[in-house]
Amino acid sequence: MNAAKQPAWLDNAVFYEIYPQSFCDSNADGIGDFDGIISKLDYIKELGCNAIWMNPCFESPFGDAGYDVSDYCKTAPRYGTNEDLKRLFNEVHNRDMHILLDLVPGHTSVEHKWFKQSMKSERNEYTDRYIWTDSIWEEPTGYGSLRGISDRDGSCAVNFFSHQPALNYGYYAPCRPWQLSMDSDGAIATREALKDIMRFWLGMGCDGFRVDMAGSLVKHDEDGKGTIALWRNIRKFLDEEFPSAAMVSEWGEPDKSLQGGFHMDFLLHFGPSHYNDLFRCAEPFFSDRGRGDISEFVAKYKENYEKSERKGLICIPSGNHDMDRLSRSIRGDNLKIAFAFLLSMPGAPFIYYGDEIGMRYVEGLTSVEGGYNRTGSRTPMQWDDTTNAGFSSAPKERLYIKQDESKDRPTAKAQMADESSLRSEIKRLIAIRQCHTALQSKGEIEFVFAEKNAYPLAFLRSGESERILVIINPADREARFECGHTLKKEIYRFGGKINRQDGIAAVPPKTAAFFEV
Ligand code: NOJ
Ligand code: CA
Repeated sequence: MNAAKQPAWLDNAVFYEIYPQSFCDSNADGIGDFDGIISKLDYIKELGCNAIWMNPCFESPFGDAGYDVSDYCKTAPRYGTNEDLKRLFNEVHNRDMHILLDLVPGHTSVEHKWFKQSMKSERNEYTDRYIWTDSIWEEPTGYGSLRGISDRDGSCAVNFFSHQPALNYGYYAPCRPWQLSMDSDGAIATREALKDIMRFWLGMGCDGFRVDMAGSLVKHDEDGKGTIALWRNIRKFLDEEFPSAAMVSEWGEPDKSLQGGFHMDFLLHFGPSHYNDLFRCAEPFFSDRGRGDISEFVAKYKENYEKSERKGLICIPSGNHDMDRLSRSIRGDNLKIAFAFLLSMPGAPFIYYGDEIGMRYVEGLTSVEGGYNRTGSRTPMQWDDTTNAGFSSAPKERLYIKQDESKDRPTAKAQMADESSLRSEIKRLIAIRQCHTALQSKGEIEFVFAEKNAYPLAFLRSGESERILVIINPADREARFECGHTLKKEIYRFGGKINRQDGIAAVPPKTAAFFEV
């Protein structure tokens, strides 16, 4: 595989995802903002994270929380100005950290000026910027379409919600007259416009992008060949103009995205990765019931790992703004054990804001800004025990989303003061990862024990000068496995002591440990 050269900082990157609406409100309007984020950078750094992914912060009618962009080169006033964002970049860099913006290349808001122009019946520069059929009576196949809202005759393909028209990067194998090919002028113009947006923000100091729905840009492209070619073209532009920009895709198929020149891809709650088997299914592997099965996850992981030839990173998130909170299905000490796994796997780990304190999924909320069932995972951060948990000094009714109102809601302040808290455990785990290159992004992994319907999970991480055996038993009963390695030195442990006798290791219930071997 012809892979992209990786920026060196990804070798030991641990990311923190910030949903800007809900992180910290500096001006009491009830919604988070750039200045609020700046005021919490030291908190993120203290946890040990050295990189940030921030969800979209651009001008938008917010029908999909900002994933419906109406101006790619202007920040949404509610967060601050472009200058404020530039200041955020600088503040991040002053702390030796990096920040990725969220790039949404697949669609815009209906309010984007490109779309308004493309709705006109007279031909203009934007006529082919979106996917339109020739007649209102014909709909493009796929997600549905926008119809009857334009002077232009035709239906416009939708990419996600019905207010998000699909940008036109062409069809892999066009079969209707209105389907442009990837090398048509219209498709190329869209691609070049995307490069201009990237140029704009990279020039201003951002360190790269998380790319929304990266795998679905070219249409009728079942095995991804067209979309891979498109991203390779963008990779070439980056190599020439911004060689240190880091790129992570929301694709979920690392064998494809890494070929497209991405440095990293996420495992996601959709797609073929079996990610949900870990934390989000009827019997998750990391629940203490001990009825999960990790074998299919591991089989798929190994397949991707081999295919990607170790040239890119497979990133496992604790959660994100689209999934249920981790703590909805994994509880108590098992959250610590889940993080022992997340922070000892290869690739760059991503921690969703609030997951480090076990913030809860808030049940029963009315949808906010197109969140629907995702709204409960997007509630304002709980900093301390002051008004609105320190998120904002606005009246409670004005908060962007209602907070978790339970009396025992976790807060960052309380957990920072408590050595036995989830956050303190995560801080220790990150610190250990940062001391051992074998545990970092590019250390090799070899699964030692990952059997069907069985516990524990054991894998070996190795770097240039060390080998570390990770043993994880989330179940509430002892688990044994054949262990050919002498456990030389314990470098991390949560839970009971692991004994190895006659080649069999006995792992106490709810235990995670790392050993030099
Ligand atoms: C994936 C994003 O993560 C999600 O929040 C959004 O709604 C869709 N893509 C559409 O952009
Ligand atoms: Ca604010």
